[in-house]
Amino acid sequence: MSKLAEKVAFVTGGSRGIGAAIAKRLAADGASVAITYVNGKSSAEAVVAAVEAAGGKALAIKADSADADQVGKAISRAVSEFGPIDILVNNAGVFPTGLIVDTTDAEFDRAFAINVRSGFAAARAALKSMPDGGRIIFIGSTLALRVHAPGLSVYAATKGAVALMAQALARELGPRKITVNTVHPGSTDTDMNPSDGPFAWAQVDLMSNPVGFVEADEVANVVGYLASPDARSVTGAAWTIDNGATV
Ligand SMILES: NC(=O)c1ccc[n+]([C@@H]2O[C@H](COP(=O)([O-])OP(=O)(O)OC[C@H]3O[C@@H](n4cnc5c(N)ncnc54)[C@H](OP(=O)(O)O)[C@@H]3O)[C@@H](O)[C@H]2O)c1
Repeated sequence: MSKLAEKVAFVTGGSRGIGAAIAKRLAADGASVAITYVNGKSSAEAVVAAVEAAGGKALAIKADSADADQVGKAISRAVSEFGPIDILVNNAGVFPTGLIVDTTDAEFDRAFAINVRSGFAAARAALKSMPDGGRIIFIGSTLALRVHAPGLSVYAATKGAVALMAQALARELGPRKITVNTVHPGSTDTDMNPSDGPFAWAQVDLMSNPVGFVEADEVANVVGYLASPDARSVTGAAWTIDNGATV
């Protein structure tokens, strides 16, 4: 029997990159998967089609993570379609860069709304019906742990906030055996950070095992483990997948 048979998963930002890889992985493990997107309708539909072609169940929902109300409504839609959410993966994110003197309050607030508040809103909505033993997984970043270049203050602050929120929720939800973990990808080859981008060489230079960028599937493998029954005692933890860049 599949590890996640009968389970329902919800992945924000599941249309591309790391979120798409996570959605496919959880579906391959047997879960019904709802994904959100904001602009990438055709990419989201392609993820749903790939899951269905492999015999799984998936649903794409347009919901802007900048708007907590839309996130809450997307959770309600997934619950009415598939049932209570067992596995929530807060993945949707943006990567603002810029020196502090050039960054506006509006840019700061938008980054926090998408990278931090949306995960809070999704967890709050999902927890209304999440069964005991559920899973909440935040996608952080190694930039929550070490900042290696200028111009990253807003992004690093959002990911640092995510990491501590996850620890606080692990403490709060422990009595219900709901685990809460953060996965911190390092440089991962996606549209956000392509492995042939202008600063890719500098990122590879940081790695203690300089084999190159991480693949989205490798991040999804760790999420698959954390979502599985095997990880029932793993909570409040931070998992780095970065070829040793933060060692
Ligand atoms: N790539 C890296 O090197 C790296 C490293 C560390 C951490 N991360 C983190 O990993 C997560 C995924 O990143 P990625 O590299 O896969 O990025 P990506 O390739 O740019 O994909 C981003 C995903 O998030 C969705 N998204 C963005 N803004 C959204 C919004 N306002 N509302 C709803 N969905 C939204 C996108 O949907 P649309 O298709 O609709 O635009 C897309 O599905 C992010 O939290 C990122 O910070 C990435």
